[in-house]
Amino acid sequence: MKPVGNIFIKNIAQLVTCEGRGAKRGAEQMNAISVFEGPMAVIARQGIITYVGPMSGVPEQDVRGCHEVDATGCCVLPGFVDSHTHLVFGGYREDEFQWRLRGDSYMSIMERGGGIASTMRATRKATKQELVASARDHLDAMLRQGVTTVEAKSGYGMDLATELLQLEAAAELEQTHPLSIYSTFMGAHDTPPEYKGREMEFIHFLLQEVMPEVKARGLAECCDIFTERGVFDHEQTRTLLTGAKAMGFEVKMHADEIVPFGGAELAAELGCLSADHLLQISEQGIAALAKSQTVATVLPCTAFSLKADYAPARKMIDAGCAVAMASDLNPGSCFSSSVPLMIALTTIYMNMTVEEAISALTINGAAAIGRADRVGSIEVGKEADMAIIRFPSYKFLSYHFGMNLVRDTIKSGVRYPVI
Ligand code: NIG
Ligand code: FE
Repeated sequence: MKPVGNIFIKNIAQLVTCEGRGAKRGAEQMNAISVFEGPMAVIARQGIITYVGPMSGVPEQDVRGCHEVDATGCCVLPGFVDSHTHLVFGGYREDEFQWRLRGDSYMSIMERGGGIASTMRATRKATKQELVASARDHLDAMLRQGVTTVEAKSGYGMDLATELLQLEAAAELEQTHPLSIYSTFMGAHDTPPEYKGREMEFIHFLLQEVMPEVKARGLAECCDIFTERGVFDHEQTRTLLTGAKAMGFEVKMHADEIVPFGGAELAAELGCLSADHLLQISEQGIAALAKSQTVATVLPCTAFSLKADYAPARKMIDAGCAVAMASDLNPGSCFSSSVPLMIALTTIYMNMTVEEAISALTINGAAAIGRADRVGSIEVGKEADMAIIRFPSYKFLSYHFGMNLVRDTIKSGVRYPVI
């Protein structure tokens, strides 16, 4: 059993609830984050929120036996949801990063056998303990930044044993680390050397030999694929994701990251929970996502690290898309889980308002992993996941940029002090 707590957060100077049980779409909804000036209070019992309201209305019997947290001078927000990470991996690629800074492209390094294939080799050699230990450090760093739910992908094994090992590592962390982990199978991250040139055979191998085992052991809820020119095409994507859905997986896609490839349109057509990256999304892609239930997930730190153009988040929001943002933490294209950097990039360079950035990181992140009914907002009945920041307004999240403002993270009603 994960720890759950009874907690009374009192004297909150400003409370941002992001109310909603589904994704916020378009500018009007994404800007409506529900802000209440204090003194406000939140109470949770057994990890579930039971009261959200003014201090003056706090029911006395509700606070009995609660751990009290004084939030005088602080703003309280929903815990952040990092809905896209490659959390579990072996090795590092620090040399590759320097090559990219000197002008080599991400795809040219990948074509030379570096990139994802290099992490695959290191991950195949790693033990489960090594994978768990390194991922645990990243989860600790995320918790300190106010993150309370994390999506974690496999995809650095691309064979049966190592894909299972990565997913088992994530499952062990879900059991032993306070953060909630949503596990995604991403065997189709690249084609491993033993299948090069036989991409469709590799897809069938995943569908027939790997995914039934993943499903039977409950090791992943979702299936993801890197749809990109030179990696997996539309036909291979359609085959994998329709097969995955038939087996009961939710589906999502890495779409339109490096070149425009119609990925967003395909994600909408296949009923993906989210289409992620979208640096090169077309006008038709934006229109398709706006009409669909698929969340458009932007990964600003990846564009920053690749020195690429940012995803057109402003255009997507104005067209009516539900935009989420996530870190994409991985050892190659984005070795950072920085929430402050994500917020700075979206608000300063991508022209999102700070309110939109908050929706993207909370309720829309939750929707991107199908959990908007449980997390992503501060409401009675939802999990007591919150970030307490040491300033009296959420606006400091963009204004005091690049700084970790989180004083305490609250996960399932348990307090994790940061400073
Ligand atoms: O989301 N684009 C594909 N996958 C990852 C990068 C993985 C890696 O470079 O190791 C991404 O950017
Ligand atoms: Fe990714």
